Amino acid sequence: MGEPAPIDVRAPLLAWYDANRRDLPWRRTRDPYRILVAEVLLQRTRVASGVPYYERFLARFPTVRDLAAAPLDDVLAAWEGLGFYRRAKHLHAAAQAIVNRHGGTVPRSYEVLAALPGIGPYTAGAIASIAFGLPVPAVDGNVTRVISRLFRIRSDVTRPPARRRLAELAADLVSVDRAGAFNQAMMELGATICTPVSPACERCPVEGLCLARAAGEEREIPLSGRRAAVRTVRVAFALIEAKGRVLLVRRKPGELLGGLWSLPGGEIPPERPEREIVRELVKEQTGVAVNIRSRWAPIARTFSHRKWSGSIYRGAPQKPPRSHGDIRWIPISEALRLPLVPFHRDAIRSLGGLEAFEGR
Ligand code: ADE
Repeated sequence: MGEPAPIDVRAPLLAWYDANRRDLPWRRTRDPYRILVAEVLLQRTRVASGVPYYERFLARFPTVRDLAAAPLDDVLAAWEGLGFYRRAKHLHAAAQAIVNRHGGTVPRSYEVLAALPGIGPYTAGAIASIAFGLPVPAVDGNVTRVISRLFRIRSDVTRPPARRRLAELAADLVSVDRAGAFNQAMMELGATICTPVSPACERCPVEGLCLARAAGEEREIPLSGRRAAVRTVRVAFALIEAKGRVLLVRRKPGELLGGLWSLPGGEIPPERPEREIVRELVKEQTGVAVNIRSRWAPIARTFSHRKWSGSIYRGAPQKPPRSHGDIRWIPISEALRLPLVPFHRDAIRSLGGLEAFEGR
């Protein structure tokens, strides 16, 4: 670790932010609920892809009471396409906690915010500083990179000792008068200048204070333990269909894509024939005996920590199934209104097209 950088990053950083900040929808509001929604959404979604979802979500749920009162399925449907659906479930639960335990007002306290579902130290710090001006830090991936470069932290930033040091430095640095602007300036610098692979140091307002830059190590820092390799898992799903209806199941909470409606099927062991397993999986998950026809569409999907590779099969039930609980045998048009696994939505939609084409 190097010498501490002068605390004077604040003034140049804030001046740079005032002149260069991006005009983003959550920066045009003082409503703590809107800021909370933005920070939860931005936990795992880039600014550019998040903006349209953010606006649509708030048009659908303009207040915390609207969100708390909505059925979870409506919330998941508004979130569909953003991935990491646990965020949407937590956001819904947080809205209910705010209504039931805090009188419908977003709590003005870092600790109370951090106790809400789905709100960790980073998100609590972002909301507390941006919505309420509380002088608390908010250390995400961008801010981690900025601070570890400024202070030339040469230990593994994924490990607890470096994390503790980053948290201390961030707490010392945060501006008391303009905490929200300061934290967003750090995020903005990380997103636009102090980028992971080729930082634009010549445009950086604190280049002269950056110890990694002075040592010529700006591309090397932050150091992190090698990321765990993304594992590829084989999957097979069945599009079971007859007379304009399809068979769907709801994925269990806690599993990948949990809570979304899905074609039956899922992860399968590598050694057995796919068609055979897929028939068994459908029977196991829905109780419905089916005939599996052709392999229909390939699947290649990458999530944060896993890849799915496999196929969707087409098939038909041996006799008309019944809907019960988390199993539905429903018209295609109704299926398309449920929060669906996104690539299953594509499959079901293209089936509609196919049937029109086949003149059925
Ligand atoms: N990422 C997380 N929070 C953000 C914010 N408020 N502005 C820009 N990017 C962010």
